[in-house]
Amino acid sequence: MAEREERGRESLRERLRAFLDPKGDERVLDAGTGTGALAFALSPLVREVVAVDVVPELLEEGRRRAADFPNVRFVEGDVAHLDLDSGSFDVAATLRTLHHVSRPERAVAELARVTRLGGFVLIVDQIAPADPLAAVELDRFERARDPSHTRALPDVDIRSLLDANGLVLRESRFDREPRELEAYLDRAGCEGEAREQARALAPPGYEATVGWYLAVKPAPRA
Ligand SMILES: C[S@@+](CC[C@H](N)C(=O)[O-])C[C@H]1O[C@@H](n2cnc3c(N)ncnc32)[C@H](O)[C@@H]1O
Repeated sequence: MAEREERGRESLRERLRAFLDPKGDERVLDAGTGTGALAFALSPLVREVVAVDVVPELLEEGRRRAADFPNVRFVEGDVAHLDLDSGSFDVAATLRTLHHVSRPERAVAELARVTRLGGFVLIVDQIAPADPLAAVELDRFERARDPSHTRALPDVDIRSLLDANGLVLRESRFDREPRELEAYLDRAGCEGEAREQARALAPPGYEATVGWYLAVKPAPRA
């Protein structure tokens, strides 16, 4: 288990190194950190990570795992109303969280607000299909699997949210992730009737699309 977690962290770290290209002196926000997956992957690449989540038990677990990552600080907070100063981060990032928040538009606005001019917003999240009916079906399945799923956003909505907050997209990429159904249901602890329902709603040959977005908060022109 620990070995799998370590491999996952290393692989995420390498992808972050390539996509974000951190210089090593950044102050980074991990919004919706859970138990710190993104914070721990980033930790050796940057100066400091502030890892925020609304669930105190997850933060406690994160703190227990943080011995090797002294530059990560776990803080309780709501990504839609961050108690953090404007412009106080070089990078504001979020991993696998936007589709769990009830107000993703507030979350992106807050990421933009706490980022300094010239800094970056990084969003990594599951992307909904462009077809609205297929998107509704995907959400139905995902909610049956995990009731904390709210709504996966399509690519166009993420781009609009970046744009609406004055962020300029630098780079995006999309990964197709095949998901073996039973293992995927196990991961969410989906059992009993809920599991039956999720199985019935599962798209055939389920493959998730994960979008990576790196946007800059431009300094105003002189
Ligand atoms: C699927 S988990 C992802 C956790 C972590 N980023 C990861 O990739 O392992 C989604 C996380 O979003 C958090 N979350 C949901 N709504 C939130 C909010 N309004 N503010 C902060 N965190 C929130 C949940 O508590 C949960 O830890």
